[in-house]
Amino acid sequence: MATGLIEQCWWIDCFERDLEGFGLDSYLIKRGAEDQFLVELCSSFILQLSYLVIYSLRQPSLPVFSALSTNSMNSSIPTAAAPGSSSDDVKCLRTTLLISIGDKVGALDECLDALKKSQVSMTRIESRSSLTVECGYDFFVDFTAANKEQINQIVDELNGVSIVKDVRILNAACNAQWFPRKMVDLDTFADKVLEMGEELSSDHPGAKDPVYRKRRYEIVQNAKLYRTGQVLPYIEYTQEEKDTWKAVFRELTSLHATHACREYRHIFPLLEKNCGYREDNIPQLQDVSNFLRVSSGFRLRPVMGLLSPRDFLNGLAFRVFHCTQYVRHHSNPTYTPEPDVCHELLGHVPLFADPGFAEFSQQIGLASLGASEEDIERLSTIYWFTAEFGLCREDGEIRAYGSGLLSSTGELKYSLSDKPQLLPFDPEKMAKQKYPITEYQPVYFVADTFTDATEKFCEYAAKMERPFQVRYDPYTETIQVLDNKTQLYHFANSIKNDMKVLTSALEKF
Ligand SMILES: [Fe+2]
Repeated sequence: MATGLIEQCWWIDCFERDLEGFGLDSYLIKRGAEDQFLVELCSSFILQLSYLVIYSLRQPSLPVFSALSTNSMNSSIPTAAAPGSSSDDVKCLRTTLLISIGDKVGALDECLDALKKSQVSMTRIESRSSLTVECGYDFFVDFTAANKEQINQIVDELNGVSIVKDVRILNAACNAQWFPRKMVDLDTFADKVLEMGEELSSDHPGAKDPVYRKRRYEIVQNAKLYRTGQVLPYIEYTQEEKDTWKAVFRELTSLHATHACREYRHIFPLLEKNCGYREDNIPQLQDVSNFLRVSSGFRLRPVMGLLSPRDFLNGLAFRVFHCTQYVRHHSNPTYTPEPDVCHELLGHVPLFADPGFAEFSQQIGLASLGASEEDIERLSTIYWFTAEFGLCREDGEIRAYGSGLLSSTGELKYSLSDKPQLLPFDPEKMAKQKYPITEYQPVYFVADTFTDATEKFCEYAAKMERPFQVRYDPYTETIQVLDNKTQLYHFANSIKNDMKVLTSALEKF
């Protein structure tokens, strides 16, 4: 357990400031006039951002803004779940508490004693100077609770400690699933895979090949041990692995000119030039990740195998793509029962370098943070029909952008034939569409553009029954839960400044 005084404010500000200090006085910012300001704000900014701000304001935790609930925009905004109205069958209650305490020797010990009484295992403690308590400290404590009652009991215990000034549950809603808020939180996924991490299932082509199993085990150990900030593992691929890559590379690249979307065709030559994409060379993840960072802000993390849909989608919220590094079995280069480096680098990576697709992918990730199991299933289905098996329109023709298509010659040809059914891009329908996982898809959804797809997805995500809203702060690489006034004013101020820049740029255009 590490306890340190971390001075930086990294994910939440719960203090109240003089609103005039934000320089928003031109928007009638005075205490008691917030509603007026926010009505103006929401009528001025673009629709998508307005949804986000208004949606957050409607949460019960912000009663000061409740007057906005009669705003005419409500017809398109979902009703937030009432506190405590969710079912009690939440499986995992990973919880973060923010405990603000006064400055007193042994204060932390008193808090920890209160936690010990509840017999929960703490997984992390961090501290910083308090923004709400003069000369005090804020402690962020992570633990896993058995149920909601235990969390409430711990909060009650802590509130009974005299030195404790405030206790807040940072899961945004007591019923929300735990989700990563900082980039380093993704480290907790390192040894969590659904299947075929260190061991292979019996039907894997390499299951009876001890040499392949040993080699794959070595590579996944790198992923298991990788932690945020480290250089991505360098793999010296064997000739056999290179030959497998070569067979896949040749087959696929022969089809890309006629079957892949414009964005893929634009980026692939850049990967050849900058990242060592060649038929006789398997690119290294660090080189590819560096390229993605400067192209779209995406980055790669090594992974042992198939992550759970929740963990995988959560990574996308940070513009992180969990990427396998081993090569499929050499016996059949055209088939793999699991993601491998050929599928990742040839299927997924090129599109992640496109800013439009990167934005679309991150929006799915953000929607997955703290989502219910049902919504995770729907989001992963949408991901399936887009990032994995998506088609798009291009100059009157249909092209592929899904990685499952772009890394499979057979399905790539089939998807653009007259055999499958093509449907217009519609997240509502996608989320409910059944699909096979061991044969070609009978149905594909066709996007007009990534911008249009993102807009439609955001409209869909806004209707999800998640009683809070989040955004990603790229400067601190953290997730902000927009559940307090200060967060909202920071956000609003940021949008306002961006709007000024946009207006100025348009005037100079
Ligand atoms: Fe994939």
